[in-house]
Parts: sequence; structure tokens; C-alpha cells
Amino acid sequence: MKEVKIETVINVYEDLTDLPKDIQDLMQMAIEARDKAYAPYSKFKVGAAILLDNNEVVSGSNQENASYPSGLCAERTAIYYAGAKYPNAKIIKMALTASSQNQVTDKPIPPCGACRQAIAEYEIKQKESIEIYFMGVKGKVAKSKSLANLLPVGFDSSYL
Ligand code: THU
Repeated sequence: MKEVKIETVINVYEDLTDLPKDIQDLMQMAIEARDKAYAPYSKFKVGAAILLDNNEVVSGSNQENASYPSGLCAERTAIYYAGAKYPNAKIIKMALTASSQNQVTDKPIPPCGACRQAIAEYEIKQKESIEIYFMGVKGKVAKSKSLANLLPVGFDSSYL
């Protein structure tokens, strides 16, 4: 038997103002997307902004549905749109933010497992890491240097 240890490293910044201006701008686009979320059921609004290597920024928000599982998270709304509109562009960075009606979200809110799987597909396809920044509405901001760092022991096409 061999034990395999996998390390995940996250950088945590005290506040958005501790990050470079380009990240603050990308997060601002995620905030604007978040505030346009269609989340009448959960009242939990999420925004994602994606910077591509062609300098375009694509953003998206969660879109809910009366048939709950038919809704889609912000990250996948944004990344699928980016993939559809700019199929040859690489994703450089993503900024994510979430607000809740039940609490003031002052901790970094990470992407859900299904979104990690979706982002992983693009990171593997482009063979370059995607930086991911995530936060609540205020407070600390977390940075992951790649998606793989957030999804160890992931499933990919090599197993098909
Ligand atoms: N949600 C996202 O948009 N992204 C995530 O990573 C986690 C959850 C959405 C889905 C649903 O509309 C609401 O947040 C509550 O789960």
C-alpha cells in the first residue's frame, strides 16, 4: 500500500484592494454579472467573469428554473458561452463572487464540484492553467493558480 498525499495551495488576500488592478476589474465584472443573476428560488446570486487570451471578457450568472435541476450555475453559464463564442481562445483567469439573501457572504465562496469539472475540461483542452479568484460580497479573496489545484484526482478523457 502506498499513501499518496496531494497538496492544494490557495492564496488568501485580506481584501479585493490587495489584488492587482486587472483582477479588481475582472471581479467588478463578476459583481455586475452576479447582480443580474436569475435566482428567484435560492436567492443566492453568483457571478463569473472570464478573461480570454483575445482580451475579451465573458461573464455569466446563475440561471434558475422552477424545475430546479434545469437551472445552471454562473461558472458554467459563462464558460459554455465563452466556448461557444470564442472556441479557439484560451481562458486566462476567472473571477467569481456570490451573494446570499440569508447572510453577508464575507468568506471566499468556491465553485461547486460540477463547475470544477466543467472548468477542468477547458484547462485540459488548452494545456494552460486557469487562475481562479473567488470571494463573497466582501472580505477575503482566494486565489487558486489552476483548476487542477481545486480538483485533485479528477476525471478526464484519458479514462474513456
Ligand atoms: N451556484 C452557482 O452559480 N455556482 C456555484 O458554484 C454554486 C452554486 C448557484 C446554483 C443555484 O442557482 C444557487 O447557486 C444555489 O445553489
